[in-house]
Amino acid sequence: MFLCSVNIVFEYIKYKWNAKGRHGIHSPFVYDLVDKVFKIDFSISDSNLLNQSFKSLESNKQTINVKDFGAGSHKLGSQRTIQQIFKISSSKGHYGKILYQLSHFFQPKNILEFGTSLGIGTLHFHLGCPKSKITTVEACPETLSFTRQFLKDKVSNVSFIESTFNDFLSQQSTEKYDLIFVDGHHDGKATIDYMQQLEIHSHNDTIFILDDIRWSDGMYEAWNELRNSDKYNVSIDLFRMGILIPRKQQEKEHFVLRGK
Ligand SMILES: C[S@@+](CC[C@H](N)C(=O)[O-])C[C@H]1O[C@@H](n2cnc3c(N)ncnc32)[C@H](O)[C@@H]1O
Repeated sequence: MFLCSVNIVFEYIKYKWNAKGRHGIHSPFVYDLVDKVFKIDFSISDSNLLNQSFKSLESNKQTINVKDFGAGSHKLGSQRTIQQIFKISSSKGHYGKILYQLSHFFQPKNILEFGTSLGIGTLHFHLGCPKSKITTVEACPETLSFTRQFLKDKVSNVSFIESTFNDFLSQQSTEKYDLIFVDGHHDGKATIDYMQQLEIHSHNDTIFILDDIRWSDGMYEAWNELRNSDKYNVSIDLFRMGILIPRKQQEKEHFVLRGK
């Protein structure tokens, strides 16, 4: 899912070279991430539900008309099958597990997800912490209608909001979120703009997860600008995803972690 203009092979080698396990990490918070959080496994029932859900999506040939409000898929037109959407734009595998691990360990009361798509990120967050109140925002009506139905019997405490991210932000009061997943409109300038608007909806310990930080040169520049900004003292590069947390109680530090 990456643009070739970011030299992704070189980036991956660099990432693998720099990525640390727990040794040499002095921040107790980040040490725990590696030592505890990234070691959490799915429970058997959660793993079964995820596998069943994946099987049903990867064999679903239903076509929906996708309205693109973001940087969009470089591979697909507007008529897309569910199986294509699942293959190209869902947080499954290693990165889905990271979403599950973070919600399971930190037990966030209030989660915000930008970009619902087929609800795979939503499902991981919910299974990780069923008590969390999840708000997930998606602008494409047919996608959201499918996902509402698909997740109907699988999740609770989830508000599905049909809206663009900007409209959602302009209608929000001062609701605060403990975990925010920005996974749509993969454009560098737009990402910086959303992050600025999300500041009033966050607190010192809010965990921001950005997906596709190496999707394009623009996204990678945005990621580097954000991680260098003094708003976030903890930044973590997990290759496809990046994590930012204000955590004013600790010195500013950047980590490149393996994630497992
Ligand atoms: C990569 S998918 C999300 C995947 C999902 N979070 C997961 O973990 O499986 C991105 C979604 O964001 C939606 N999207 C993109 N730009 C948007 C915008 N500006 N406002 C609302 N939704 C948007 C797209 O329609 C698409 O369904």
